[in-house]
Amino acid sequence: MTIEIIPTIAALRVRLDDARTKGARVGLVPTMGYLHAGHTSLMAAARAENDLAVTSIFVNPLQFAAGEDLTDYPRDLTRDIALASDAGVDVVFTPSVDEMYPFGAVLTTVTVDQISTLWEGATRPTHFAGVATVVAKLFAITGPCRAYFGEKDFQQLAVVRRMAADLSLPVSVVGCPIVREADGLALSSRNVYLGRDERAAATVLRRALDDGLAAIESGQRCAAEVIAAMTARVATEPLAQLDYCAAVDANSFLQPEWLSDEIRLLIACRVGRPRLIDNAGVMIIE
Ligand code: PAF
Repeated sequence: MTIEIIPTIAALRVRLDDARTKGARVGLVPTMGYLHAGHTSLMAAARAENDLAVTSIFVNPLQFAAGEDLTDYPRDLTRDIALASDAGVDVVFTPSVDEMYPFGAVLTTVTVDQISTLWEGATRPTHFAGVATVVAKLFAITGPCRAYFGEKDFQQLAVVRRMAADLSLPVSVVGCPIVREADGLALSSRNVYLGRDERAAATVLRRALDDGLAAIESGQRCAAEVIAAMTARVATEPLAQLDYCAAVDANSFLQPEWLSDEIRLLIACRVGRPRLIDNAGVMIIE
């Protein structure tokens, strides 16, 4: 079947209402485009688990702060549509900024407290409210049974899950595994900003996570020691500038002194121009 490209909310609603009337379950993959294999893995899951797979491609101004890469954010709609089509997507929603935010200023926003203030939220204080607001709008526009998000943005996934739970939204938020290059670099649209040497240096994020995991596997339970192992690894890479690394409770995102139960190692580094993030999970059962 040919992929449908729908740029307006009204037309998308007509299309999806019609499908739902016939009993179709809609699966949504929200994206900002410049698709890679991480995105297409979400689309494949949406295709497999729903009757209609919908993806949105919208670079959301609300989640960028002044001075971030909103205007330069990589875009290639023609390529994105081909990739989405190959991944089995039925409908691509491609709204303009005016379509999504017709009044210019957005007076109603969604803020998920606590989780949004830590780690990524500490560095980018307005980011998660921008994400939660656009995702809430996309849920309201598409009415999905399931919505798919990558674990690469692990804190974003937690924010969206909590928003859906707090607001009793009738959607199941599905987290999907991180897709990596052969050398361990997590796929990200922003990897395109990396120069050749920076691309090699960027593998330090995964290597630091591996060091943290190895410390835990060898019995280390002191969070500060695990973080020190990760920090030491980043320090070996002159092109990488550490923003934070952490060993947090995977649900609260708080950093315990001693590690137990479900732990997530988080890391954020600037490598040349882009700021990259990555994470890894571990369950500690004593
Ligand atoms: O992860 C992203 O690409 C974006 O934050 C999202 C979820 C599509 C919201 O704009």
